[in-house]
Amino acid sequence: ADPNRDKQIEAHELTAKLYHHLLMNTKQGQSALAYLRGRGLSDKMIDQFSIGYAPESWDTLAKFLESRKFPLPLMEKGGLLSAKQDGSGYVDRFRGRIMFPIWNRDGKVIAFAGRIMGDGQPKYLNSPESPLFTKSRILYNFNNARPDIRKRRKVVLFEGYMDVIKTWSAGIRNGVATMGTALTDEHAAILARSADEIIICYDGDSAGKAAAMKAIPMFEKAGLVVSVAMLPGNMDPDEAIDAYGPDAFLRDVMDHPVSAVKFKLIYLRKNHMLEEDDGRRKYLLEAAKIVAELESAIDREVYLKELSREFDVSMNTLNQDVNAVRLTNQ
Ligand code: CTP
Ligand code: MN
Ligand code: MN
Ligand code: MN
Ligand code: MN
Repeated sequence: ADPNRDKQIEAHELTAKLYHHLLMNTKQGQSALAYLRGRGLSDKMIDQFSIGYAPESWDTLAKFLESRKFPLPLMEKGGLLSAKQDGSGYVDRFRGRIMFPIWNRDGKVIAFAGRIMGDGQPKYLNSPESPLFTKSRILYNFNNARPDIRKRRKVVLFEGYMDVIKTWSAGIRNGVATMGTALTDEHAAILARSADEIIICYDGDSAGKAAAMKAIPMFEKAGLVVSVAMLPGNMDPDEAIDAYGPDAFLRDVMDHPVSAVKFKLIYLRKNHMLEEDDGRRKYLLEAAKIVAELESAIDREVYLKELSREFDVSMNTLNQDVNAVRLTNQ
């Protein structure tokens, strides 16, 4: 065992306990606790996800870690502390933030995401990349969700920490999120080892939709069957649960994901002026390319029928173009 690694994990575990204690039991934590309750989190959820509070102070954690004899340069490497400019010592890296511990697969705290209360930049301050915290491989909540993912061979991918937590309290036990960094092929491979199917449930804004378009081929390459749960308007799952309640969210969003192809066909619409003949023609040409990717003739027919009806073009015509694309792709 690497002693530095063990020290680092021990420090993160203790820090999570300290931050959680400060949130739940101290005057300093009161406004943070009110903020979290105001966002719809019960004390049970706050406990379940070990959420905490880093006080508005330069040395609360630095003193705590020093008194427990943790080597401070090591703590700086792990991102709990920052080195002072003049080299005279260390200060707390997270100050005045709501703290979300991030766990490795063994359920050990290895990093934090710190959210500012209210507006301000950056909204989330994350621990830096370290040998312990490799953002390209870590998925938030994977340790908690893994049993359910493996049992059902199905995983749900959200964009944010709050989405995972709020949907967990709505009953979704197979939800994970990336770390605010881009999805990687490694993430996809890790999920493909535990699941056969993935539902992408990113934010409903244009950034979320564009990210879903990018994620689809990555998961397909990893061998997962992909579908997309679509949010109303520009909402994210956390906001949709607040607006409509958990039951309606599960029923109207989570229970009706669309296939990857359907999602691509919907997404494609925004680039074309469908009220104009030329826009409709160009849309259909692109749509034919998307449908042509499907291996099964039955699947192709399902989507072509919809296009045929909506755009008043015969199945025969659509099929001709799709088959032409398939021949070129071979
Ligand atoms: N993120 C980040 N750093 C930022 C902004 C975002 O790491 N400065 C990551 C976080 O993982 C965040 C995710 O990107 O959860 C999605 O961002 P966004 O939708 O803006 O935040 P929400 O998760 O909706 O955050 P909240 O509900 O707390 O406003
Ligand atoms: Mn507690
Ligand atoms: Mn977003
Ligand atoms: Mn969001
Ligand atoms: Mn949100």
